[in-house]
Amino acid sequence: MHITDSAFVLPEIANGGPAAMTDVTDDTTAGVVRTEVRFLLNEAEVVLADAAPDDTLLDFLRLERGLTGSKEGCNEGDCGACTVLVGRLTDGHLRYQSVNSCICFIGALDGAHVVTIEYLTKSGRLHAVQQAMLAEHGSQCGFCTPGIVISLYQVWLENPRADRADIERALQGNLCRCTGYAPIVRAGLSMGSAEALSGDHLTADRQRIKTQLNTMNDGARVEIEHEGKRLVVPANRDDLATLLSVYPKATLIAGATDVGLWVTKEMQEISPAIFIGNLDEMKMIASEQEHLRIGASVTYSDSERALADHHSTLSALLHRIGGEQVRNQGTIGGNIANGSPIGDMPPPLISLGATLILMSKAGQRTIPLEDFFIDYGRQDLRKGEFVSEVVVPRLADDARFSIYKISKRRDEDISALLAAFMVRVGGDGMISDARISFGGMAGVPKRALSAEDALKGHPFNVESFAAAARHLPEDFTPLSDWRASKEYRMLAAQNLFRRFALEHLGEAVSVERNPIRYESEAAE
Ligand code: FAD
Ligand code: FES
Ligand code: FES
Repeated sequence: MHITDSAFVLPEIANGGPAAMTDVTDDTTAGVVRTEVRFLLNEAEVVLADAAPDDTLLDFLRLERGLTGSKEGCNEGDCGACTVLVGRLTDGHLRYQSVNSCICFIGALDGAHVVTIEYLTKSGRLHAVQQAMLAEHGSQCGFCTPGIVISLYQVWLENPRADRADIERALQGNLCRCTGYAPIVRAGLSMGSAEALSGDHLTADRQRIKTQLNTMNDGARVEIEHEGKRLVVPANRDDLATLLSVYPKATLIAGATDVGLWVTKEMQEISPAIFIGNLDEMKMIASEQEHLRIGASVTYSDSERALADHHSTLSALLHRIGGEQVRNQGTIGGNIANGSPIGDMPPPLISLGATLILMSKAGQRTIPLEDFFIDYGRQDLRKGEFVSEVVVPRLADDARFSIYKISKRRDEDISALLAAFMVRVGGDGMISDARISFGGMAGVPKRALSAEDALKGHPFNVESFAAAARHLPEDFTPLSDWRASKEYRMLAAQNLFRRFALEHLGEAVSVERNPIRYESEAAE
């Protein structure tokens, strides 16, 4: 990778100067095509004319820049040793979020500000967050420490006096093998008492950074061809449709929490790659009378906030997905489009009756989400098409809705089984409608149609649900894998029918009341 630090000059592009402009593809709706990725790294402006689609930020930091504070632990988004902050301008606001640099590609950083651990000490003094870690003995071998400091720093930026829940949440995606979390959490709780905001560089430099990022975000398409690999960042959603008509086999990359691992763990070739994680139209959330519309590139973190008012149960589920870094990167569209049978979002969205808007250069079409999943590894996505948004209806007043995620660990674990129940009950106490969906029970996320039929027209009581659960083997033939045996999956799924009924009938169950249930038993 060839790197240029520059006093960031964009006028050539704006004025159509030849140096930075090329019509790499013939059919462009983008207007201007730029052949460099540009972003801010701490205080330096970085311009890369030869970035490859599979270049990760962590490799760039450590191998190209010698910024070795960010560590490589797992290289798959689990341990948080590589955590950095990525700042972006949204509606004029500059917001920083923690991300795992090991599965963040350079192509996703165009127009962003990357902050590494080195930035915190640029004046030679420890930051308030680091002081707190020191005072509370929050570090032993130190390998996890830069990632932990950055995760705490993100919380601190939002609220220097964050509470325990905020701190624990921020640390969900940071593994420490030797210190133990008690001193680290204590450090998080005492960050505010250190001499806080005054010495913080991001606070002091904010206006300058905003100005720089404003200039960088020039609305151009980025397209780089280098050593036979192609990296593209569309200018907007229409441009994405155009690009997919030119490169129908391109790898779409939104948050890269799946695709990142194809590169770091499976050494897969992903070129040509189109980066779609920051297209405004695909990051929108619109609250309408009957629906919530969520753009495909909306991250888990952003949708959690948006869903809190509409579907608090679904919003609470998001807290059980990955760690904070994964939630800041991973998108709703990616979780659907990857077609995984154990993705957490599809079952509840199917139970809520969500529809999917698919787009291509030929136009758009709307399908029920459940019809998108045809078979294991096969989705209803035509040539040149992409997921544009998901439309989630509001819950009816007479609906009862619950989600149950069963995994071996509470935090940062993939579901062995995920169930979402939406049951409507009339004034006469009879079940008028039921949509019950499962992940982990088949090759795709799927509704339990026989069990649903067995409920409709019956009274809302435990007996009706027990009878419906007996129909579940007609709907599913689960498989055994290392997450759970087929017998466990079936039994647990059937028991959830009983639990749902008991909870909604207000009867005591032997776990703490919480909209998302945690099974403490190992899923085997
Ligand atoms: P990407 O990796 O960018 O893309 C995934 C796939 O979708 C690719 O094939 C891509 O081409 C395609 N794609 C993306 N967007 C579109 C689009 N708009 N149109 C068409 N195709 C598209 N998942 C869970 O469900 N629950 C968990 O608890 C969980 N924990 C995780 C923990 C870790 C540490 C990691 C690394 C991952 C975890 N995941 C989990 C998986 C991952 O977060 C999700 O599958 C995520 O939603 C994928 O979204 P993305 O934006 O990162 O997708
Ligand atoms: Fe483990 Fe990146 S190295 S999350
Ligand atoms: Fe050693 Fe955390 S201090 S891994």
